[in-house]
Amino acid sequence: VLAIWNQLTKTEIPELAKCSVLMRERGRVEETIHSMQRAGAGSLQVISDFDMTLTRFAHNGRRVPTTHNILINRLLISEDCTQKLKVLLNTYYPIEIDPSRSVEEKLPLMVEWWTKVHELLIQQRIRKDLLAQAVNESGTMLRDGYKSFFDRLAEQQIPLLIFSAGVGDVLEEVIRQNQVFHPNVNIISNYMDFDPTGALQAFKGLLIHTFNKREGALSHAAGLKNLQGRPNVLLLGDSLGDLTMADGVSEHQNILTIGFLNDQVEERKESYINSFDIVLVKDETLDVPNAILSYIT
Ligand code: C5P
Ligand code: MG
Repeated sequence: VLAIWNQLTKTEIPELAKCSVLMRERGRVEETIHSMQRAGAGSLQVISDFDMTLTRFAHNGRRVPTTHNILINRLLISEDCTQKLKVLLNTYYPIEIDPSRSVEEKLPLMVEWWTKVHELLIQQRIRKDLLAQAVNESGTMLRDGYKSFFDRLAEQQIPLLIFSAGVGDVLEEVIRQNQVFHPNVNIISNYMDFDPTGALQAFKGLLIHTFNKREGALSHAAGLKNLQGRPNVLLLGDSLGDLTMADGVSEHQNILTIGFLNDQVEERKESYINSFDIVLVKDETLDVPNAILSYIT
């Protein structure tokens, strides 16, 4: 049976045969995809991380900014604040992706990073009416193939939950400017709270960082009624912390997880293969998710 499935995937989803696509159990992945295909679009929901998953990691050798880093623009923050944010990034990002530290060890440090950054941003009293211009000037880029990804999901009325530890207001502006903020999109993220003059005064709700998405998922589950009755989940992420984004889905049948391995490839390959069903190594496109979606729906 496995041989037949392998054959099927080769002809139906040739993208899975590329050498940048790694799988721990190819047979099980194919089985899951077939089972999702039989259940069809009406049973499917997609849950995706944003920064470095829906957006590119790099372009022409330069890092593409995350939603936080889009805010590093002289329109919004001072030179002094920029320097401080860069020091924090250089201190904490290596910790975030360090394969030799446990999640338990990273957790308090991530809270520290996000908290310090948010405090700095609040001190700058960032203006809401300048966010769109900052996004426009930022050089942010969604992955190649984003248009068909978002458009297909919208056409088939498949809910897309974007679950981001970034900044929600910036994220929304990125997808709006790319004309893919369709009605099937729900977002869980860190949202800015502006005072009546339009200046940033706080962040709303539970702080979401890389390694507490489980808590975010559970606390929002009840509010996302349109996701109920969709037991098949396609999950996309770039961090091991993203694997808990589906923890709010109560009665799931099949979950297929796809992990983008962008950085520290050799050091992290093994843990990614052990954790995600499909690992995409240095792949700046959405070709594989798109091919799977086109087969399922
Ligand atoms: O959307 P996502 O959950 O991926 O957003 C979180 C990402 O943003 C993290 O992987 C982290 O590297 C990045 N980040 C950043 N600057 C911060 C905080 C987080 O670039 N101040
Ligand atoms: Mg990410």
